[in-house]
Amino acid sequence: MSLRKFKTIAAVAGAAILLSGVAACSQEREPEAQDTEGQGEETAAPEDILVGIAMPTRSLERWNKDGSHLQGLLEEAGYETNLQYADNEVDQQISQLQNMINEGADILVIASIDGTALAPILAEAKAQDITVIAYDRLINETPDVDYYATFDNYRVGQLQGEFIRDALDLENADGPFNLEPFAGSPDDNNAKFFFSGAWDVLLPYVKEGKLVVPSAKSPASNDEWQSIGILGWGSEDAQDEMTNRLNSFYAGGTKLDVVLSPNDSLALGIAQALEGAGYVPGEDWPVLTGQDGDQANVLNIIAGKQSMTVWKDTRLLAERVATMIQQIVNGEEVEVNDNETYDNGVKVVPTFLIDPTVVTADNIEDTLIASGFYTAEDLGL
Ligand code: BGC
Repeated sequence: MSLRKFKTIAAVAGAAILLSGVAACSQEREPEAQDTEGQGEETAAPEDILVGIAMPTRSLERWNKDGSHLQGLLEEAGYETNLQYADNEVDQQISQLQNMINEGADILVIASIDGTALAPILAEAKAQDITVIAYDRLINETPDVDYYATFDNYRVGQLQGEFIRDALDLENADGPFNLEPFAGSPDDNNAKFFFSGAWDVLLPYVKEGKLVVPSAKSPASNDEWQSIGILGWGSEDAQDEMTNRLNSFYAGGTKLDVVLSPNDSLALGIAQALEGAGYVPGEDWPVLTGQDGDQANVLNIIAGKQSMTVWKDTRLLAERVATMIQQIVNGEEVEVNDNETYDNGVKVVPTFLIDPTVVTADNIEDTLIASGFYTAEDLGL
């Protein structure tokens, strides 16, 4: 029996009916209410629970890892799963969610494409008593999201900003240094946090004149981050944007010193633009930030074409979500560690935040390889 049916039957008929074994049962999944430790407490069995997992796209390495790891953990624990990727198309994601609901999903785990576009479909999920977990990205403007699990997104940006501050020794050096800032997709709630974390560190230096932005694509405040966002987080779009800025504002021999890139997919495109413009690793290559620890970017770090990445060990996120699901199914309190930060416009969503880690050429072995995220072979080491 599904968790949905379990909750409904338990509410209507009471646990006694379930214990006597006369409860109506789903045709696909047999009822198997468990008596935990003989205390008369009912829980549904994992094999009777269907978890729908909606991921945004296969085009980025991290989401493939996120999806397969979460699915693997849940299946190992006995759950039924339905994992879907949506080509970064909002409508496709909505119809995948609709199918999961129709199919009897009990829990939905959603890494949204546009965090503001899911309210109607989630109202439908709520009407069916489905529990919704926002995965990595917050879902906005709806009361129908129950929990959120993510990395500390503001901290990600702060680590990028602090890295730039320290790499250029902005406290002591006179500068000025030429900076080009980028931001993530305007429809992704995380992108605002990444930018704010970084800009809170860097904007004072921009105001002071130690950092100069020749393209003038320099938001006057955190709220204006969308003006420099790259819709859909595409590498090619970032490459085009960087190439345009280099052609328009750096043509006369002006040197670019530093690029704030919010993630690895953008950093990949930016690095190609830099290469195209003749920058040479180890010589005049600008400081370039990133996020995720994608394999291609770690290879770029080793090759001197990217300075750092903020690594988010997606295995930890999947494990956290699997724990949340177990707690939900067991009827236990779901553990969270932030009840303040993630206001989705309707409610503050109970959140579990995980700490991200800075990776540079100096600690690849101790972080990515020691933890088994990559083998030395994966990285040609
Ligand atoms: C995620 C990042 C990722 C970006 C692009 C963000 O929501 O938090 O890890 O790089 O989306 O997919």
